[in-house]
Amino acid sequence: MSERVIPLIDQRLRSRPVAVPSQPIPASGLLGDTLGRPLRDLRISVTDRCNFRCSYCMPKEVFDKDYQYLPHSALLTFEEITRVAQQFVAHGVQKIRLTGGEPLLRKNLEILIAQLAVLRTADGQPLDLTLTTNGSLLARKAQALKDAGLQRVTVSLDGLDDATFRAMNDVDFPVADVLAGIEAAQRVGLGPIKVNMVVKRGTNDDQILPMARHFKGTGIVLRFIEYMDVGATNGWRMDEVLPSAEVVARLSAELPLVPLSPAAPGETAERWGYADGSGEIGVISSVTHAFCRDCNRARLSTEGQLYLCLFATHGHDLRPLIRSGASDEELASAIAAIWQQRDDRYSELRASLPPDTAVGGRRIEMSYIGG
Ligand code: GTP
Ligand code: 5AD
Ligand code: SF4
Ligand code: SF4
Repeated sequence: MSERVIPLIDQRLRSRPVAVPSQPIPASGLLGDTLGRPLRDLRISVTDRCNFRCSYCMPKEVFDKDYQYLPHSALLTFEEITRVAQQFVAHGVQKIRLTGGEPLLRKNLEILIAQLAVLRTADGQPLDLTLTTNGSLLARKAQALKDAGLQRVTVSLDGLDDATFRAMNDVDFPVADVLAGIEAAQRVGLGPIKVNMVVKRGTNDDQILPMARHFKGTGIVLRFIEYMDVGATNGWRMDEVLPSAEVVARLSAELPLVPLSPAAPGETAERWGYADGSGEIGVISSVTHAFCRDCNRARLSTEGQLYLCLFATHGHDLRPLIRSGASDEELASAIAAIWQQRDDRYSELRASLPPDTAVGGRRIEMSYIGG
């Protein structure tokens, strides 16, 4: 095997200071970026730690025992997160997803969920409040999450075969425990549950059909994700990407599928239904079929940096503003000004270039801003 070069620059240090605009930008819920895209979806990372070491996300060689995670003082408190989230909601956010790292590692997460669950959109609707988890702690925590006001969960699961799954999480975690977590989530009503499977050609693509058979008819929506060139440490190669078109072809050869229309504008997954009416699957094709055109997603890092794209090379540091005593109006205006200048569309740009072309500078890690 050839030796991999691991870059050592700390991406977390690169950020832009945030200014309060001289003219306030009132929250109208109608904010648009330079490409006319609204702000609808906020993903909040609550920890940069994870108990798994999936090689496509937190490879062991980088995230080893010497890796410096953020100190507790750097993290936004639950009160700070809620206050920022409230300004985003005023600007039109309707969905909040908690991510990590592994969000269930953040202590007392239920308290944050309870605070977010009472927020209402401008027209008085509750938020679509959800969480992405690797499922390892879900069996233990599902009931408390539900009681706190979480609506649904999405569980990452890359295979059913125990040996394949243990190899992919790289900490020898058994698949049975994640399946028990999914069952617990279903039992307490944290649905509709989605299961996200990152497909790497030659690593777990033999799990596509077993996963589909397992979840077919359960009400759980399985989604296949193309392995992305996110971050800078996973040694991504195009030949390890299995295009979604091939996933659909493999599945429909055994389990006939019919195309479904999108459920919401700007969504990540293309939906397919089983022809026999026993549920649906999704494919997320960031590599072969970019979906930047309607991207309405903002990401808030654990320490309060706002990222406008999963492939961003810098964040906008909201924390100094939050901690400087800025008013809600000032904070809301600052967020609006950042969104109004947004022009990110990384996946589209990359798709227009020859395969394996590097675009832009060194990118942020997914474990730091969440999926
Ligand atoms: P639902 O509301 O449940 O449909 O969730 P979602 O699909 O909006 O979010 P989720 O976090 O489940 O996304 C699934 C996967 O799609 C992520 O793990 C990423 O791999 C990928 N993904 C999500 N958002 C983006 C995005 O904005 N850009 C790109 N390129 N990929 C994304
Ligand atoms: N490619 C695609 N998806 C990824 N995720 C993390 N890294 C990658 C990658 N390189 C997604 C997975 C996981 C979620 C937390 O982030 O869907 O479920
Ligand atoms: Fe952890 Fe999810 Fe990243 Fe795997 S993909 S290392 S479970 S954050
Ligand atoms: Fe949105 Fe960036 Fe993903 Fe495109 S690549 S869909 S702009 S997050």
